[in-house]
Amino acid sequence: MSNTAIPASEVNPLQSIEQWEDDVLVRYPKEGKPAKEKEKTEFRNYDTPQRDTVREFYRLNHKYQTYEFVREKQKEFLQFNRKELRVWEAMEFLNTLVDDSDPDTDLDQLQHLLQTGEAIRADGHPDWFVLTGFIHDMGKVLCLFGEPQWAVVGDTFPVGCAFSDKIVYPEYFAANPDTKDSRFNTKYGMYEPNCGLKNVHMSWGHDEYLYHIVKDYLPEEALYMIRYHSFYSQHREHAYEHLMDEHDKEMFKWVDKFNPYDLYSKSPKPPVVSELKPYYEELIAKYLPATIRL
Ligand SMILES: [Fe+2]
Ligand SMILES: [Fe+2]
Repeated sequence: MSNTAIPASEVNPLQSIEQWEDDVLVRYPKEGKPAKEKEKTEFRNYDTPQRDTVREFYRLNHKYQTYEFVREKQKEFLQFNRKELRVWEAMEFLNTLVDDSDPDTDLDQLQHLLQTGEAIRADGHPDWFVLTGFIHDMGKVLCLFGEPQWAVVGDTFPVGCAFSDKIVYPEYFAANPDTKDSRFNTKYGMYEPNCGLKNVHMSWGHDEYLYHIVKDYLPEEALYMIRYHSFYSQHREHAYEHLMDEHDKEMFKWVDKFNPYDLYSKSPKPPVVSELKPYYEELIAKYLPATIRL
């Protein structure tokens, strides 16, 4: 399905894409552990207009992220024929994505990314890990190319096989045509048991897109962090172990290590961009090419 086939009312339900990450934080207020049943019920039951917006966002995400949609988006975006920029410029481009929500209290994209990088650096991790924290959301530039919010952010999950009931709001998958397609609606669908995630197509969004942009340049651990950082049904609920191979399981230790920095490093004190820029420019130059293509 092309974007033009999607009604305008179903493109951007959130006030800003940050609303999704804020909501993940409500769902997983604690590090590492799957949400307890009680917390899950509380999460689902609080009734606010904010909640309705997020619920609508997931309804659309679950309805439209089909196997065919994902393949279309791969074809469309993995040509990288839109822009060629220096990495820092790409981050500034991302930062033109302005929030409609309260500008006084919310950090912008660059600030979130610097806080993530700085929290990783403060814990003494290797420099490629710091760089990964800094760039991990760069794929959100998809929004600036006119993509619907639910095709940029949101929990990611495999397509081409049954959707797990451990994914947030699983009932909305009933409207996804793949649930009626016998090629896709069984536990393994088009995949083999433990075939490895390298053979699995994930729902389309900023994680998958950035992975393809940097895949030739960063250590594999970093690439796993980037590619699977929104795969919460696996991080927290282990819902897709049946598709993972031993190597994935090893690598997911790094995804798990990364995740708290993404979720819990937000602090109201904005980092001073000009002070940090030289350090990050150096990291970029060490690992990434002079320009990248989006
Ligand atoms: Fe992200
Ligand atoms: Fe993030």
